[in-house]
Amino acid sequence: MSALFTPYRVGSLELRNRIVIAPMCQYSADEGRATDWHVIHLGNLALSGAALLMIEATAVLPEGRISPDDLGLWSDETEEALGRVLEIVRCYSDMPLGIQLAHAGRKASTHAPWKGRGQIRPDEDRGWQTVAPSAIPFAEGENPPVALDQDGLAKVRDAFADAARRSARLGLDAVQLHAAHGYLLHQFLSPLANRRDDEYGGSLENRTRFPLEVYDAVRQAFPAEKPVSMRVSGTDWAEGGWDIDQTIAFAKALEARGCSAIHVSSGGMTPAQQIPVGPSYQVPLARAVKSATSMPIITVGLITSYDQAEAIVGTGDADLVALARAIIYDPHWPWHAAAHLGGTVRAPKQYLRSQPGRHPHLFDD
Ligand SMILES: Cc1cc2nc3c(=O)[nH]c(=O)nc-3n(C[C@H](O)[C@H](O)[C@H](O)COP(=O)(O)O)c2cc1C
Repeated sequence: MSALFTPYRVGSLELRNRIVIAPMCQYSADEGRATDWHVIHLGNLALSGAALLMIEATAVLPEGRISPDDLGLWSDETEEALGRVLEIVRCYSDMPLGIQLAHAGRKASTHAPWKGRGQIRPDEDRGWQTVAPSAIPFAEGENPPVALDQDGLAKVRDAFADAARRSARLGLDAVQLHAAHGYLLHQFLSPLANRRDDEYGGSLENRTRFPLEVYDAVRQAFPAEKPVSMRVSGTDWAEGGWDIDQTIAFAKALEARGCSAIHVSSGGMTPAQQIPVGPSYQVPLARAVKSATSMPIITVGLITSYDQAEAIVGTGDADLVALARAIIYDPHWPWHAAAHLGGTVRAPKQYLRSQPGRHPHLFDD
């Protein structure tokens, strides 16, 4: 019996196996509105046989977009555009769909990767003034963010809750809050970006306060039986930054509030980071959080081979594995993993005849 193909449950969410599609920005929205690209991209991934498809970082406010081309969910127009995409995807796939709600903070207003990534300054075409916990830029020479005041914090918190309500209206099965990769909620957590001297900065308790408030607001706004999870960076991989001990303390605080799961990634806070990149390099971070809490734990990062994923779940390092680049490279990765490990996957009826003769029971009903 394959561990990777053993069903799992998170709240009311029934997962057919342990493979999650990690959120991946597409920089292909039109003023926050999902486009035909999202129909093709999400439609493709929804046929992959994974257990859960997480929609890319979706900005809760226009100024929270990483780039001007990011997906958003802050208005009736953006909600309607995503609704159209979901309606089409759901015609052909019953894969559960979750969404990652995000605010980029000081890492907002940048060019899409294929346009060079760098910051777009507020006085440049399509750029805007960024906000953050403190007026410290991500990289030297960048236009600094404006530190959020009490009204600014309330606006962001309400926007997350509002986007969660819109997600519920769209029938999405799960919400994940993006508190990783150096974006706004992570900026509150990390001493490298948060130098506030009010109740949102300084001690660990103060630095976790705003992300926990956002979690509470979203939890209240999203149906109680549906999961709300948090994606964190387990460490900044930098001197004086956020680390695994602080992550564990934050995870315990989330668990006490009923958080459904934690997705443990890493990095993204500072250009000075030193990441020991290699296969499964973030698994030890997930394992550390797993051994300190009893929440479902998702791991991610250079998980590419079927046996590697099987071993991670089988040894209990994490409950779920997330794939990003590997599943773009091979959108039927879960089919191939199932064939290799003796599992089964759900496939659309149009594709049933593609089942290889040597795997006559690959597709389940
Ligand atoms: C094209 C692309 C877009 C991404 N966008 C997001 C995102 O929207 N939100 C997020 O938390 N991580 C994002 N990531 C990071 C991935 O979710 C994942 O953590 C990372 O790629 C490591 O996993 P992998 O080795 O399986 O690719 C993105 C990665 C890629 C390659």
